[in-house]
Amino acid sequence: MGRSMDEIARDILRSNDRGGYTIPTAGLYPYQWNWDSAFAAWGFSTFNPDRAWTELERLFEAQWDTGMVPHIVFWKPDPGYFPGPEVWRTATHPPTSGISQPPVAAILARLILRADDAAGRERIAALYPKLLASHRWWHRHRCSAGPAAITHPWESGRDNCPDWDPGMANVDGSRVGPYTRRDTGHVDASMRPTKADYDRYLAIVQFGRGCGWDQDEIVRNGPFLMADPAMTFILIRAHRDLAAIGRDLGQDVSEIDGWIGALTEGLAEIWNADLGVHDARDLRTGAFANTLGSGAFLAWLSGDVPPEVEARLVAVWDRTRYGIPSADPGASNFEPRRYWRGPMWPVVNALIALGLADAGRSDLAERLRAETAESIRAGGFNEYFDPMDGTPCGGANFTWTAAIWLTWAGRDAAEVA
Ligand code: DGY
Repeated sequence: MGRSMDEIARDILRSNDRGGYTIPTAGLYPYQWNWDSAFAAWGFSTFNPDRAWTELERLFEAQWDTGMVPHIVFWKPDPGYFPGPEVWRTATHPPTSGISQPPVAAILARLILRADDAAGRERIAALYPKLLASHRWWHRHRCSAGPAAITHPWESGRDNCPDWDPGMANVDGSRVGPYTRRDTGHVDASMRPTKADYDRYLAIVQFGRGCGWDQDEIVRNGPFLMADPAMTFILIRAHRDLAAIGRDLGQDVSEIDGWIGALTEGLAEIWNADLGVHDARDLRTGAFANTLGSGAFLAWLSGDVPPEVEARLVAVWDRTRYGIPSADPGASNFEPRRYWRGPMWPVVNALIALGLADAGRSDLAERLRAETAESIRAGGFNEYFDPMDGTPCGGANFTWTAAIWLTWAGRDAAEVA
């Protein structure tokens, strides 16, 4: 008899384990990535709560003195990845990248705790001050415009989505010098960002490196600064979860409540009235991206979504067969298999579903779960999928796809809380 999907998913987590931290997938991503790791922890919590907490602890071992949790931790050298530590040159131990990634750790830590409170009591008490410092870093260094901003498309986790096109258009990638990409040696180039994207990604890294990763200077004068609805929704939800954890631990959480209020007000800055949803906005020029992809769907994480916004979002979802697309299939720049320019990402669906369930939209949450499960069952535990025909894309045996299978997609309606 073949192995069950759950067994395969657990094996993927185990085989991507590098001793206390989990890589997203062998070859393509050989280090510890920030939000991937938090999802890995959630996956581990279904069969090994101790290992789940270790995953988060390892991630926070790489936290900077400033509170920033970097987006990549380069625990061991690996020539299979570019750009590695010799490009970022952060002067930290362990070496890391110089930007962050969506702060989902508090959201997932709270779920892990709920699943086994006894196993997590001491671990969360030790982690809480570190989570608090990282949220304070987000407030101080990324939220001064009102909504949450990103200083590099990689910081959003949704690297090449059309949301960043206006900001990227103003980045000069012509002087980055020669380099060799490694990602296209692991995955079909047509599923990855273009060379023009990579030139600009590197130009932004070179600016950060040039100022010694001074985050004030990067925000003030860096080549790229865009407000991100997805990051804002995630951060509001993460602050709420952190405040709930803090209250349980008997802490004063008024500082966190203040951040929630400020971010919620900041949403007005990224309301695109023409589009009828919150939209990415270039903070250098004020231009909206005018795109409607999965970032806008994360609105449910921050609370209820008005019926007219829901109708706008669901109309985009209705254009696909398999889950929520990273970009609108009705737009002329839609590319169903190119990374974040159209594909459906199971992990983003899982996050959106958390919001839907809390907002009482269990009907939509179940539709999303079923469509996600169907694509994974038919295609495997891939990084992302073509949302129109379900073709599995990107890296295979992917940690976060396995993790969200175990916690959400693979649980049928009766089992989903
Ligand atoms: C990559 O290398 O593609 C990563 O997404 C950067 O974080």
